[in-house]
Amino acid sequence: MEYLIAPSILSADFSRLGEEVDSVIDAGADMIHLDVMDNHYVPNLSLGPMVCKSLRNHGLIAPIDVHLMVDPVDRIIGDFLESGASFITFHPETSSDVERSLERIRMGGARCGLALNPETPLSLLDHVIDKMDLVLIMSVNPGFGGQVFIPESLQKIKEARELIDQVDRDIRLAVDGGVKVENLSQICAAGADTFVAGSAIFKSENYSRTITSMRSQLA
Ligand code: DX5
Ligand code: ZN
Repeated sequence: MEYLIAPSILSADFSRLGEEVDSVIDAGADMIHLDVMDNHYVPNLSLGPMVCKSLRNHGLIAPIDVHLMVDPVDRIIGDFLESGASFITFHPETSSDVERSLERIRMGGARCGLALNPETPLSLLDHVIDKMDLVLIMSVNPGFGGQVFIPESLQKIKEARELIDQVDRDIRLAVDGGVKVENLSQICAAGADTFVAGSAIFKSENYSRTITSMRSQLA
């Protein structure tokens, strides 16, 4: 299985964003996770498509994994498709027609995903799993970086892995929230293959050492 480490720039120094992104890529990160918060669906405001575009213009080649915490989500999808997003993931409750939003992303040339909050049941995926490229299990309530991993998420990751394995399609299983070097091997053993980490990487002193430690937990 190919494991991907995706630093979330929510915990980066926004005044030096290009440099921060270059540093984590040089340190061995596989893709960049972009948290888009609207101060409505979640109680925080972060960044928009212009930042995604700026990172591409800056020379970022690695995949950009856009995590939309925006309600309603549909209007903003097109802007991210034009800004160089590789994956676009949204929360099902922010779309009036989940299947159509997923299709919109795919038709626009990006890979599509759904993010499930800790209280959102996996059964929500039943009818759409064969049309998705990524399942994002939220292991904290969305809105802020630096929260503690909710331990019940491990069971949900296991069940999501079983569901994904029943589908004949390349679907990534990502985990977002409270992911650290210390809990990574457990999260991996539960079946995740894509690890979003914000504070664990950007608040660490040496990105390269942190990402190398993470990689060794996945080996
Ligand atoms: C939370 C965001 C996360 C956040 C994770 O709503 O979706 O991507 O940046 O931050 P950490 O890794 O610090 O929990
Ligand atoms: Zn996120």
